[in-house]
Amino acid sequence: MRHLLSTSDLSLEEAVRILDTTAQMAATQEREVKKLPTLRGRTVVNLFFEDSTRTRISFETAAKRLSADVINFSAKGSSLSKGESLKDTALTLKAMGADAVIIRHQASGAPYTLAHAGWLDAPVINAGDGTHQHPTQALLDAYTIRRHLMGETMGEPDSIGVVGKDLSGLKIVIVGDVLHSRVARANVYLLSTLGAQVTLVSPPTLLPVGVETWPCQISYHLDEAIDQVQPDAIMMLRVQRERMSSAGGGFFPSPLEYTRIYGLDAKRLGRLPEHAIVLHPGPMNRGLEISAQAADSPRSVIVEQVANGVAVRMAVLYLLLTGESSAGTAAHPTGKENS
Ligand code: NCD
Repeated sequence: MRHLLSTSDLSLEEAVRILDTTAQMAATQEREVKKLPTLRGRTVVNLFFEDSTRTRISFETAAKRLSADVINFSAKGSSLSKGESLKDTALTLKAMGADAVIIRHQASGAPYTLAHAGWLDAPVINAGDGTHQHPTQALLDAYTIRRHLMGETMGEPDSIGVVGKDLSGLKIVIVGDVLHSRVARANVYLLSTLGAQVTLVSPPTLLPVGVETWPCQISYHLDEAIDQVQPDAIMMLRVQRERMSSAGGGFFPSPLEYTRIYGLDAKRLGRLPEHAIVLHPGPMNRGLEISAQAADSPRSVIVEQVANGVAVRMAVLYLLLTGESSAGTAAHPTGKENS
C-alpha cells in the first residue's frame, strides 16, 4: 500500500491490518501522555480545498500525536484553475519536503491525480474527494463496528484488542443521501471486503447511477429494511443540502416528508435488535435524518466515532510513512523501539 485513495483498492488482509494497527494506536491514547515519537522529523501536509472541521482536525491531531510536523494548507478561494493549482501546489509541497499529503477536494479523482501525475513522491491520503471516496471515514466506521460487535458480548464495546477479525456475519444498513455521499460508497466497498452484508436504504432519487453494481443490497423502505434485515448496525447519512440547489433540491418532496420516511427516530430505534448500534459520520442534521433522541441514545456511537478517527488516522499515517504495510512486520508501531 503506497497511497490510501479508495477503499475499493484495499484487500481483506490490508483492511484488517489497518484495523489492528488502529487498536494498537487506540491503546496508546488511553495513556496520560498520548504523544509517540514514531514520526519525529517527518512533515505531513493537510491540503484542504473543501470545508471540513472534524476530518482536518482529526488528521492534524493524529499526525501530531505521532510527533510529525504538520502544515495546514487551506486552498479554498484560490482563483487558479483546478488542474493548474493542483500541479503548482504539488510542486510547492515537494520543494518543501512534504513526507505525506492528505488531500480533501471537491472534485472526485483529485487525490488520484495528485498521487499518480508524477508531481510528488510522497504518499497521498484521500480525506474525501467530491462524491467519490472517504477511506479513513469508512475505516473508522469499520473499527467502531468491530469493537462493538465482534467481541464476546454484542453491543458492548470490547477491550480494544479485538484483533485479527473481519466483520463476517454482520448486517449493516446505511440510510439516506447515498447520491452525494463519499462515506456511503467508501463504506459499501470496505464493509463488504470485510465480510459484512450491506444494505443501502434511500429514496430512488438519492441513489447514484450504477449503484446496482456496488457490492450491496438496495431498499427504498426503511421500516421494511429494519424488519427484514434486523441490522447489527445502522448508519445514518447526512442530507447534503449544500450539494443540492434548494432545500430538498427536488430530490425529495419536503424535509418533513424525508424525516417521516427515512429519519431515525425513537420509534424506529426501538425496532432495531437490542444490540444494534447507531452511527453517523457527522456533521448531523438533527431533526432531519436523525432525531435528537436517536443521536443521544445509549446505542449511539457517534462521539466514539470521532475518537476512533484519530486512532485510525494515526494507523494509516504510520503504515504509509514507515512502509510497514505488509502483514507480519511493524511489531511496534507505538514507539517502543523508538523511544
Ligand atoms: C463526511 C464528509 O465530509 O464526507 N463528513 C466527515 O468527513 N466527517 C460526511 C458529510 O459531510 O456528511
